[in-house]
Amino acid sequence: MKMRRLILIIVVVIAAGFLLIQLVPYGRAHDNPPVVTEPNWDSPQTRELAQRACYNCHSYETQWPRYANVAPVSWLVQRDVDEGRIHLNFSDWNQSHEGPEHEVHEPETLGEVILNGEMPPANYMSQHPEARLTDAERAALAEGLLATAAQSSTAEGDDHAPDEGDPEHEEDEHEAGE
Ligand code: HEC
Repeated sequence: MKMRRLILIIVVVIAAGFLLIQLVPYGRAHDNPPVVTEPNWDSPQTRELAQRACYNCHSYETQWPRYANVAPVSWLVQRDVDEGRIHLNFSDWNQSHEGPEHEVHEPETLGEVILNGEMPPANYMSQHPEARLTDAERAALAEGLLATAAQSSTAEGDDHAPDEGDPEHEEDEHEAGE
C-alpha cells in the first residue's frame, strides 16, 4: 500500500516537472534571422551539400524539427544551433570570421572536421539521415568548402583563383563593437 502511494507521488512529481519545464522560454524562439552574407560559393554543389549536412546548425536557415518544441530536447537543440552559429555561420559569412563574439577558425578546420567525421555530429545524423554523406560527398564538401573559404576571404595573393577583377570589395567593415 505505502509503496504504491510512493510510486504514485513520484509519477505525479515527474509529470508536473515535465509540464513545468515547458514554461521555460529558452529554446522556443526558433528564430531564423535574415541572411546577411553567404560565402562566395565555389560551386552550387558545395552549397547543396552544406545545406544538407550543416545548415540546420550553421546558418540562419535552420529547419527546426517538431520535437524541438518539447523541453528538455528543445534546450539541447537550441544550444546546438546557438553554438553552431557562433562557430560557423553560412548565412553571416564575414561576421563568423571577424565578429567579436564569433570564434575564428583556420579554413583548414572546415575540411578537417568533415573528413575526420566530427561534423555533422553523429547523434544528429541518427535523427537526420539526409545529413549522412558518402565518402565521396564528404571529400567533395571538404574540398568545396576549402575552395569557398579561399575565394571568400579577402584576396591574399594566392595563386589559386584567377581574379576576375571585381573592384567592389568591401574593405571597410570596421564596426567597433564591444
Ligand atoms: C547538430 C548541429 C550541427 C550540425 C548539423 C553541424 N554542426 Fe558543426 N558544430 C556544431 C556545434 C554545436 C559546434 C560547436 C561545438 C563543437 O565544436 O562541438 C560546431 C562546430 C563546428 C566547427 C568548429 C570546430 C572546432 O574545432 O572548433 C566547424 C568547422 C563545424 N562545426 C563545421 C561543420 C560542418 C562543415 C558541418 C556540415 C558537414 C557541420 N558543422 C554540421 C553543430 C553542428
